[in-house]
Amino acid sequence: MIFQANDELKAFVAEAKTYTINGKVADYIPALGKASQNDLAIAIYYPDGQWISAGEMEKEFTLQSISKVITLALVLMDRGFEYVFERVGMEPTGDPFNSIAKLETMAPTKPLNPMINAGALVVTHMIMGNTVEERIQRLVSFIRQLANKSTIGYCEEVARSEFESAHLNRALCHFLKQHNIIDEDVEQLIDLYTKQCAIEINCFDLARIALVFAMDGVDPESGIQIMPADIARICKTFMVTCGMYNASGEFAIKTGIPAKSGVSGGIMGAVPGLCGIGVFGPALDEKGNSIAGLKLLELLSKKYELNMF
Ligand code: DON
Repeated sequence: MIFQANDELKAFVAEAKTYTINGKVADYIPALGKASQNDLAIAIYYPDGQWISAGEMEKEFTLQSISKVITLALVLMDRGFEYVFERVGMEPTGDPFNSIAKLETMAPTKPLNPMINAGALVVTHMIMGNTVEERIQRLVSFIRQLANKSTIGYCEEVARSEFESAHLNRALCHFLKQHNIIDEDVEQLIDLYTKQCAIEINCFDLARIALVFAMDGVDPESGIQIMPADIARICKTFMVTCGMYNASGEFAIKTGIPAKSGVSGGIMGAVPGLCGIGVFGPALDEKGNSIAGLKLLELLSKKYELNMF
């Protein structure tokens, strides 16, 4: 056990919380704007089933971009590497998550990686099923399995709010469709993508999901291989290189933790072989990452040597 006491974790949360005033809650998806600027919570889940937490653990939030890692794992299992990586690349962009710039300047036009919105839309397009409902339920079932919780679902209010305001994502889809990277009705894909982003969890669920990635796809309690080890490793590698967007390099240097952020303020951290971490802090920095969450992970990584490098 690395962390001896919850009190210690509480002290780290209190220290990192002072940074929330420098951030801003995302409101470009109107429903996200209701979050409390000052919240900060963390859960850490260990392979032996023990876990610790501190902060506003009762708060539920939506996965947003964290869903991109999980969807990638699902489509890699369903479609195989060749199919997936023929349509989306493996390179970091150094651009903001919703940037359209590289799509036009790169040849071929396929998005650079599955963590930016352009790439994530291509990956979501690959979720199997006949209807949006069938496809979102396929992803939800996978997430329920990873979190070991049968009640996980998506928040209709957040999904609708994003659906109504997702103009940039629609533009990305039209661009991808024009270049034959996707061949789906754009409104249908946006419907699926916004539901995917609106899947609701808490820090504990997020830490549990992260632990499966940390343990190379093995469910820590049942010992069942939920996803192949090589897929879990690919996902962790993307988390290191692209998980925090154009802050991924600095985050890797400061923490050495494979992690994925979302604009709701969540961060999923998968420390290889050691633990899964779920963080929630809705005040974001200018790059769309939880400002206090980043600080908290930096403090914890230094203190407990979580740096995988
Ligand atoms: O596509 C969007 O704009 C959101 N649903 C997800 C973006 C996101 O979480 C970016 N992460 N920091």
